[in-house]
Amino acid sequence: MDGCARSVGHLKISSKRLIKLKPRKLVNRVYWVGAVDWDRRLFDELIPLPDGTSYNAYLIKGSEKTALIDTVDPTMTDVLVKNLKLLDVEDIDYVVTNHAEQDHSGALPEILKLYPKAKVISTRKCKELLVNLLLIPEDKIITVEDRETLALGDKTLEFIHLPWVHWPETMVTYLREDGILFPCDLFGSHFASSDLYVTDEAMIYEAAKRYYAEIMMPFRTIIERNLKKLQGLDLKVIAPSHGPVYNRPDFITEAYREWVYSPPKNVVVLPYVSMHGSTKVMVDYFVSALVDRGVAVKQFNLTKTDIGKLAMALVDAATIVVGSPTVLGGPHPNVVYAVYLTNALRPKLKFASIIGSYGWGGRTVDVIAGMLSNLRVELLEPVLVRGLPKTEDFKRLDRLADEISNKHRDLGLS
Ligand code: FEO
Repeated sequence: MDGCARSVGHLKISSKRLIKLKPRKLVNRVYWVGAVDWDRRLFDELIPLPDGTSYNAYLIKGSEKTALIDTVDPTMTDVLVKNLKLLDVEDIDYVVTNHAEQDHSGALPEILKLYPKAKVISTRKCKELLVNLLLIPEDKIITVEDRETLALGDKTLEFIHLPWVHWPETMVTYLREDGILFPCDLFGSHFASSDLYVTDEAMIYEAAKRYYAEIMMPFRTIIERNLKKLQGLDLKVIAPSHGPVYNRPDFITEAYREWVYSPPKNVVVLPYVSMHGSTKVMVDYFVSALVDRGVAVKQFNLTKTDIGKLAMALVDAATIVVGSPTVLGGPHPNVVYAVYLTNALRPKLKFASIIGSYGWGGRTVDVIAGMLSNLRVELLEPVLVRGLPKTEDFKRLDRLADEISNKHRDLGLS
């Protein structure tokens, strides 16, 4: 089957020559058959991927039936097909589609062509999306209810509906006999690695936190409920669809509990732009004032920063202070982008304020404050100054630092 040939320049390279990671065994007759995307640096044309990513698909060979759990990004279809061939997979009975987003479902049309007996297993909502996004024929899809099971002979799949992690149609699949949870995006990390399992927890903690911040945090309250649904499962392995597999599931479930449930920390996030240096003078002074009062600060120059780092900082922060010059009567466009993103990510923030400079007027404060409507934050007195800050302006920054420090202390934040 050399529908798997890939073009390299003007050459066609046979799939047999593609040098990619081969299938790997998790447990008896359960295999990783996905693809590692070492070079991808942007996801959804939005999210930076400093460490690449992977699209993990898994093959389960029961004593009677064979199931494929999710597929891969359409750009990597040939890798998945090659992996299935290497395992001598003649027939697939079911393709479990936990999530309709194309990085997991994009290879589905090709897989259904190559394995015409296969039926897709999904939630009802996922079926609607697959029919519309990928033109999968309705009669190829079997929908399953929450907690429904499917026997593959000696292996049993249990489907648990966990909507909104991070689309409305999502479910996870639990392989009962082996205690393996296949949660698709949930618990994942954008991290390309030759390791099947997590080997460096500190590194994966960072990648998984970035993933949580960018993809899952807007659904924090729903995830809180969903995590409760997973309690009681005997989890030996968590096999997500991005990043390495967790053979110590507590590592990632405890991290999620911290990110989702814990109160924010005694941290101020300070994204800013300075055009002619006035706002930067204020930022430097203000950061020092906060640190003197025992408050940690994470500052981000928005003309240089990796926006994913800002998202990660928002996971724990209690306060955001936005620093902006005034451009064409409002905040700098990079500030608008960062504030819009912050509002969309819905972090645990409790307080917000604005510092910055203007030349002759503007609506910077109103515009920024109006963009934080998703957040339940108390807006603290902004400090906007004309041109460079003067003695009285530094005192106002001191007062804002005092107020933040006192409010964090009143909430018992550490
Ligand atoms: Fe990894 Fe929501 O796709």
